Amino acid sequence: MKHFLDIADFSAEEIRGMLTLGLELKAEQKNGQSRPLLKDKVLAMVFQKPSLRTRVSFDMAMRTLGGDALYLSPQEIGLGKRESIADIARVLSGYVNVVMARVFAHDHILELAKWSSIPIINGLSDYNHPCQAMADALTIMEEFGDLKGRTVTYIGDGNNVALSLMKVVTKLGAHFRIAAPENFGLSANDIEQSLQFAQLSGGSITQFHDPSAAAEGSDVIYTDTWTSMGQEEEAKMREKVFPPYQVNQTLVNLAKPQAIVMHCLPAHRGQEITDEVADGPHSRLFIQAENRMHAQKAILINVMNGIEDDAK
Ligand code: CP
Ligand code: NVA
Repeated sequence: MKHFLDIADFSAEEIRGMLTLGLELKAEQKNGQSRPLLKDKVLAMVFQKPSLRTRVSFDMAMRTLGGDALYLSPQEIGLGKRESIADIARVLSGYVNVVMARVFAHDHILELAKWSSIPIINGLSDYNHPCQAMADALTIMEEFGDLKGRTVTYIGDGNNVALSLMKVVTKLGAHFRIAAPENFGLSANDIEQSLQFAQLSGGSITQFHDPSAAAEGSDVIYTDTWTSMGQEEEAKMREKVFPPYQVNQTLVNLAKPQAIVMHCLPAHRGQEITDEVADGPHSRLFIQAENRMHAQKAILINVMNGIEDDAK
């Protein structure tokens, strides 16, 4: 059973293969030549948290490839409340071909995968956001050709998005920098794991507290919300800690002249990113959001056994 739960579960070759396929599928769609590679396949989308991009991009990915998608809201499913995760996984396995789930506890994604007889795709947990990272890597590839040797700098909270970005960047031979406030960085265990990816790929990881030092000479400046879903009660405290980590024009001016600015969205304009940067010439925010769909077409094809070969 092939799931898509964590970037760490895939080799650099597998990741590159999916990204290359994603770019091909994007070109096909732009030319009006999408193939029905997932004809008659149905994706169930299970959400415990709100979403715009993940919901619509997965739905459109399925439709574009000739399949269909079902949206299941938090109220309908009651993951682990109305019914056990193990039972939900086995029931859905009898109806649909693949499940994408957005959860709070990462263990819930692992539990779904444990009991499911169809592929499970992680559409974000409190721990990681691997589909986002694939779209991010695809966007950087599109811009620069390859990630190898590029410097990708994340400014802000060491959260789920930062973690998956670090994993994909170090898998693909780029240099990952993170500037986070004290006690808001990535965990030592996760950094240790990605350092091993970097050793294999020729990449590196550097941690900063000073965002200016981190931004200097970067190819990519990336940020995300200061308060993730589920941390709402910490919002006031975080609004006091994070202002020095705002991605504004002064910070972007320290990066390379051709640098791009990325954000997984939703953006909190005036907090982690200014309007000037989000709407400015370096911004790739909306291409990045669109690329969710193209990267996820490749992920869907990859996890569905037997379909992968037809797509190549
Ligand atoms: N980036 C992202 O996952 O957006 P949504 O929360 O809108 O799905
Ligand atoms: N870090 C954010 C990402 C949203 C797509 C969150 O978890 O809320």
